[in-house]
Amino acid sequence: MQNQASTKPVVLSAEHASVHFGALKAVNDVSMQVRQGERHVIIGTNGAGKTTLFNLIAGDLRLTSGKIILFGEDVTNKLPRERARMGLRRTYQTSAVFNSMTVRENLYMSLLGEKSPRKWLDPFHGISRDRDMMAEVEQCAEKILLKDNLETRAINLSHGQRRQLELGQALIVEPRLILFDEPASGLSAEEREMMQRMIADLDSEKLTLVMIEHDMDIAFSVADHIIVMFEGQLIAEGSPAEIRNNSQVREIYLGGRFDDKSNS
Ligand SMILES: Nc1ncnc2c1ncn2[C@@H]1O[C@H](COP(=O)(O)OP(=O)(O)OP(=O)(O)O)[C@@H](O)[C@H]1O
Ligand SMILES: [Mg+2]
Repeated sequence: MQNQASTKPVVLSAEHASVHFGALKAVNDVSMQVRQGERHVIIGTNGAGKTTLFNLIAGDLRLTSGKIILFGEDVTNKLPRERARMGLRRTYQTSAVFNSMTVRENLYMSLLGEKSPRKWLDPFHGISRDRDMMAEVEQCAEKILLKDNLETRAINLSHGQRRQLELGQALIVEPRLILFDEPASGLSAEEREMMQRMIADLDSEKLTLVMIEHDMDIAFSVADHIIVMFEGQLIAEGSPAEIRNNSQVREIYLGGRFDDKSNS
């Protein structure tokens, strides 16, 4: 959990991170720090700059100014794949699974990309022989609650199951830091609950999580630290209770939406 005396190493810092698109300051002087095992949730209105901040952290976009430090190393000028090799993974707001492949094949491909990138050229060459990898695929399928769907083609999965599979694609390579971009978007109440449970069950010793989430129930149940963005800036951060009680946040973003929620 987030606390002043935490001695866990810092796995991610943004230092005055900014990116400008012409006159638009999509991310404007954002500084943040995340320690190993913490769960940070970023909330904010549409267009606040949340996904753009993820793009800067993952290296999909270059900063106009500022720095990104990952696992103690300045990665500001490193490529996305170099950051991935250090243990960073992200999911996207829109789906990134291969429709014509089964759950097993999708997970296998993600693992292959990490462990034997050369086999990518002929990915099905050894799928049945890759016993060790298959064991990892099956363990991962269990974690994402898709063990009974291993042979189902992604196109036949429900929306919620696709999102679970995307999580699996990120988790299977055992990253140290995951960036989840709205994992619960478009899910039914039941699917959301499942997603919430899966995220709550992730290893909080080694795995650090930064998540963008619009669903306040999920955000406040997952987070030990909440970051609020507005018009490119980080306008508040703190524990869920501090954020609920922050008058600026309530005025700008929450509009009293917490009035009926408990103050846990
Ligand atoms: N590559 C780009 N070029 C120009 N403008 C961009 C680019 N990427 C993002 N923007 C703009 O930057 C702002 C922040 O976008 P971003 O996608 O980060 O918002 P967000 O907080 O993730 O919103 P949402 O909740 O809708 O996903 C928006 O005004 C968006 O139109
Ligand atoms: Mg976004």
